[in-house]
Amino acid sequence: MSADIGLIGLAVMGENLVLNMESRGFTCAVYNRTTSKVDEFMSGRGKGKKFVGCHSMEDLVKNLKTPRRVMLMVKAGEVVDHFINLLVPLLSKGDIIIDGGNSLYTDTDRRVKELTAKDLYFIGTGVSGGEEGALTGPSIMPGGNPKAWEAVKPILQSIAAKVDGGQPCCDWVGDGGAGHYVKMVHNGIEYGDMQLISEAYFILKHYIGMSNQEIQSTFIEWNKGDLDSYLIEISSDIFGKKDDAGAYVVDTILDSAGQKGTGKWTAINALDLGIPVTLIGEAVFARCLSSLKDQRVAASKILPGPVAADAHKTFKGDKAQFVEYVRQALFASKLVSYAQGFTMMHAAAKEYNWKLQYGNIALLWRGGCIIRSTFLGRIKDAFERNPTLDNLLTDQWFTEKIGAAEQGWRQVTAASILTGIPSPAFTTALSYYDGYRCATLPANLIQAQRDYFGAHTYEKVNGKRGEFFHTNWTGRGGNTHSSSYNA
Ligand code: 6PG
Repeated sequence: MSADIGLIGLAVMGENLVLNMESRGFTCAVYNRTTSKVDEFMSGRGKGKKFVGCHSMEDLVKNLKTPRRVMLMVKAGEVVDHFINLLVPLLSKGDIIIDGGNSLYTDTDRRVKELTAKDLYFIGTGVSGGEEGALTGPSIMPGGNPKAWEAVKPILQSIAAKVDGGQPCCDWVGDGGAGHYVKMVHNGIEYGDMQLISEAYFILKHYIGMSNQEIQSTFIEWNKGDLDSYLIEISSDIFGKKDDAGAYVVDTILDSAGQKGTGKWTAINALDLGIPVTLIGEAVFARCLSSLKDQRVAASKILPGPVAADAHKTFKGDKAQFVEYVRQALFASKLVSYAQGFTMMHAAAKEYNWKLQYGNIALLWRGGCIIRSTFLGRIKDAFERNPTLDNLLTDQWFTEKIGAAEQGWRQVTAASILTGIPSPAFTTALSYYDGYRCATLPANLIQAQRDYFGAHTYEKVNGKRGEFFHTNWTGRGGNTHSSSYNA
């Protein structure tokens, strides 16, 4: 039997993805480094299905139709290079390797080039949706060598999630590392959404003293409106889950968040591009701060200030009204986060020479992935109205929505600051919003200071942009000034 595609790596994502492919009519050859996993799969979930279990890479390659399509679902990093190196001598001109892990886009870029030089095609694709998504329909973000797209498109589009009456959440993203780049930004936004939801939970819990059950009901309500999304939905499930001893599981989990690095990559790249993606950055740092558990416990005993957990003791306002304010703060911050994420992709497209279709990217994320939500349809609409939109916040729908949520947002951030409830993502989102809509910022003083101590020069309010001046502030320095390059 000649298989349509070969898959290497039968861990959670690989196994579910290949079952998805088989369920859509594709024959799949499977291989895993620990070959007992192949046997387990063939006699377990793969039993009686169109799979070819292989105990060697040679065997896998031998069982494939040409051009051969081999998908890697292995740990990002060196392991990907290891398997590519093993595959290359076994493959022939025009064969295709697809990496479906969370690889760093610069690695993907390099691999596309290296394999093109060997007459092989490489695709780096983001796959989002976790275990269940992989099985029933993930969001797929492929990029790399465009010559390989037609050969993998039927498989990838048929296994992807579908939205709006059958549109697949899978389309070509762009050359080189573009697919993995877009997946990286997706993950950064995922970090942001998760942090925002956690802050909403913390404020509801501590500021107005809501129980897990009440928070669950609130989230169920929220999921019927603008906030309708997978992450709100699973959070409401989480609030209701009890363990065998009758305790809420969420209350038994240590408040120290892990991370595998994609959010950090997003924040680093935002800094490299010079684009203010403050919310994702703050979400990554919030996870870092959470992981300093021992230090925080010690500091909680010595550093003065209001105690977050006591805030509800003094709350005297209208509970229902405040819940609505929290919903507004969450939604407004989310609008900022997505606006920031798209400005980053805008800058990356320019910097790396990609032709990213922002509306299509929003559509890829509409279903299947972790950040899926109805709201992404609004982003698609905004880019359809204006494909070169600089910042989503200036689209009419966004402007109206953020305007309607602004008062609640300010109430919530002010309340959290006054009562010592940390809300870094809510507050950074509001600071960005106020900064972005502020025609005049205090950066004139920063420029004056730079010029004072280092003769770094400045532009003038009524001068021509690009024309730089230097003041001899103390009378002691000369008139020589440093060059005006910007990092
Ligand atoms: C997805 C997720 C996934 C990611 C996990 C864990 O889109 O399915 O983004 O790719 O690896 O969510 O990420 P962290 O361990 O960094 O939280």
